[in-house]
Amino acid sequence: MKKLLYVVPFLLIGGYFLLKPSKPFVSKLNQARLMLSELRGGDFTHAGDKEAVDMVITKIKQEFPEILKGNCLDVGCGFGGTADYFVKNGFKHVWAIDIDPAVINYAKSKYKQVQFSSVDAASVSLKFDRDFFSFIYLFNVLYAIEDKVTVLRQLARVSKPGTILMIFDYSVEETTEPLLDLAGKPMCPIQTKKIKQQLYESGWEVLEVRDLSETFVVWYEQLLQKLENKKKEITGHFLEKDIAKFSATYIHILHQLHNKTLGGVLIYAKRI
Ligand SMILES: C[S@@+](CC[C@H](N)C(=O)[O-])C[C@H]1O[C@@H](n2cnc3c(N)ncnc32)[C@H](O)[C@@H]1O
Repeated sequence: MKKLLYVVPFLLIGGYFLLKPSKPFVSKLNQARLMLSELRGGDFTHAGDKEAVDMVITKIKQEFPEILKGNCLDVGCGFGGTADYFVKNGFKHVWAIDIDPAVINYAKSKYKQVQFSSVDAASVSLKFDRDFFSFIYLFNVLYAIEDKVTVLRQLARVSKPGTILMIFDYSVEETTEPLLDLAGKPMCPIQTKKIKQQLYESGWEVLEVRDLSETFVVWYEQLLQKLENKKKEITGHFLEKDIAKFSATYIHILHQLHNKTLGGVLIYAKRI
């Protein structure tokens, strides 16, 4: 009987956790980004959708095929569609991080072959060992990070010598008036005149810089066309105000791309 009394508190605590009403699921996902991913027809929120990822995969397979067997890191993975696409294209070990826990929860529940975690790129070396990765890529992420050198240094710490880094992003020649992104935060595009030096300072040697500005124009025209074509469907899933914000953001970005105050760039670098 005495022994039974010891067990009672544990039964009560266990029972409380079993019967406690679970909190209703409240989506903290950025609605404009969710809309973008729906329009792009995959969990991508970068320019050029699969076409952009295919550009990178083709190059890696042709020039650095050994990377497919190594450890790869998707930085700022968002909803996880890009990382999953790499796995489906033969990349064996893909890790993915994002600063936003809501997108990581979403990605974890959907893509089981990628190892997702909620980590700030500026402190990635706390999560991974030195020399861990052979390939690191960022699709439309650095524009959201003001202190690029800190992040690039952190990425170098978890990379082995010879690791390939791929940066795909918005670019500017000179700093102009700041643009706001879909999350309402100021954008800090890659400064084409500074990036080589920033990479070198952080432990990376530039292999290739490819100007994608004209391609970005085509991609954003197509995106706005898709929005027009799918407006009815989208209106059923999202609030008017989110659709309006989305449309205004991309019309503005396209305008900047047309008048060449904004561009797009694809950079490959190698860990020194
Ligand atoms: C435009 S989305 C791109 C998502 C993804 N790369 C893709 O191609 O679909 C930018 C992502 O970068 C993430 N991000 C911004 N700053 C970050 C940081 N310091 N560390 C990790 N992720 C970051 C954001 O949370 C967001 O999910």
